[in-house]
Amino acid sequence: MHRRRKLHVCVAVGLFASMLWPPLAHTQSSYQATLAIRLDQPRGTINRNIYGQFAEHLGRLIYEGIWVGENSSIPNTRGMRNDVLAALKDLHVPVLRWPGGCFADEYHWLDGIGPREKRPRRPNSSWGGIDTNAFGTHEFLDLCEMLGADAYINGNVGSGSPQEMMQWIEYMTSDADSEWANLRRRNGRDKPWKIPYFAVGNETWGCGGNMRPEYYADVYRRYATFIKNHSGNRIQKLAVGAYDENYNWTEVLMSHAAKQMDGLSLHYYTLPTGNWEKKGSATQFGEKEWHATLSRTLRMDEFIQKHSAIMDKYDPQKRVGLMVDEWGTWYDSEPGRDLGALYQQNTLRDAVAAAINLNIFHKHADRVQMANIAQMINVLQAMMLTDKEKLVLTPTYHVFRMYSVHQGATLIPVDLSAPEYKLSDTSVPSLSASASRDSEGRLHLSVVNLDPNRAAEITATIAGGVGRNVSGELLTAPVMNAMNTFDHPNTVKPTQFSGYRFEGSRLTLSIPAKSVVVLELK
Ligand code: AHR
Repeated sequence: MHRRRKLHVCVAVGLFASMLWPPLAHTQSSYQATLAIRLDQPRGTINRNIYGQFAEHLGRLIYEGIWVGENSSIPNTRGMRNDVLAALKDLHVPVLRWPGGCFADEYHWLDGIGPREKRPRRPNSSWGGIDTNAFGTHEFLDLCEMLGADAYINGNVGSGSPQEMMQWIEYMTSDADSEWANLRRRNGRDKPWKIPYFAVGNETWGCGGNMRPEYYADVYRRYATFIKNHSGNRIQKLAVGAYDENYNWTEVLMSHAAKQMDGLSLHYYTLPTGNWEKKGSATQFGEKEWHATLSRTLRMDEFIQKHSAIMDKYDPQKRVGLMVDEWGTWYDSEPGRDLGALYQQNTLRDAVAAAINLNIFHKHADRVQMANIAQMINVLQAMMLTDKEKLVLTPTYHVFRMYSVHQGATLIPVDLSAPEYKLSDTSVPSLSASASRDSEGRLHLSVVNLDPNRAAEITATIAGGVGRNVSGELLTAPVMNAMNTFDHPNTVKPTQFSGYRFEGSRLTLSIPAKSVVVLELK
């Protein structure tokens, strides 16, 4: 009904508007851009694992965020919150990394199996508090099965042995009549699980053991030797990679251990200030911080390019994946909150930052085989926030849901030409875009307008055939720091996008300031 009324208005002003299109072209509140969509030059596949998640025993992620226990008054399935499960299912989470993070290198898997009342309570020395171990291997793998997600287990190198790692893998994946497989059966799981990804430590240059790259390369080779494939399970072995521009780490790891690995990680967090001591507020910011945050987000492209170039020297076939298994925004903890819990609110700025990063990962789909945003619930750039029985979806969640159409699709190159978005003496591109074609021939185009003040009037050409049936979603808000709260959970949420039209073979798009748009053409 509402849509029909809108159409009438369009028809009424149609003739006049067609003479003026693009309607805002010469006002100060918009800028012109062109976009060439190369449907005729399809590239590789966008690995669906780029949409991976990360769940560490940290703050209120596992306990409260997912695990409330079977006797909780919060509706749950085998101890896990139903509202969280439902929201995650809509994201089609392809892969889930667990149990850390820094926590992985202090985690001993035997603590988290068997009757829950007998599991030891241990201090979480990385992030504070006591871990009851109520959520362990069986619970994590149950969660993965409920979500239809692949399991990515992060092993303990810092304080664990190759023997402990080897036995954990046997416990989870072996179908034999052997001690560890039989213990799994006694703990209620007959059939072995599939574990496709296993990492040898986390941040071994820091919280995972403060190692030099030369030392870790040998440690990696040693531990990786004992990661065995049982009963048809095939494990991809992942080595700890660099952070930011630590290119020497990549050089040493690739030159010493490329043959023994299937993936090498990269961690990069966006801090508005770039200063770990004073990162900046998640919600109290102006245009200066908006610009700086997006500018730092865009550095992901540079880091991936340069680490990939090193990897290319040792692995020109691109067999070894670059796994960006920690990324996202990281702000100062909210005043009055436990500093170790890394709880932060999430605004439109985070949605824009997430979309930029996802577009960058697509662009490097030939090398980036996985990415895991940090972290899934209540920690850093989360998909959702919980407060007892309440749940709120963040702007970042909406981007992940809108972008899920790109999972496993064929990358379609795009050429953008747009003015820079300048502030004082710094500038960033005003637009970021990415396109893919799915197995049913539908073209999906995502466009991010970084400029918080001006709409983008884009003239797009599509080389190669696609239908003209267009639909789309728009995520934006009146202010840069708009957020969803427990009292106002729908301040930032997707709406139908109607700022498009065809003129002959040209598609014109009017993308609002500070917004994310995902279009479908079929
Ligand atoms: O995601 C929070 C922490 O950041 C992780 O535990 C660690 O790997 C990184 O430093």
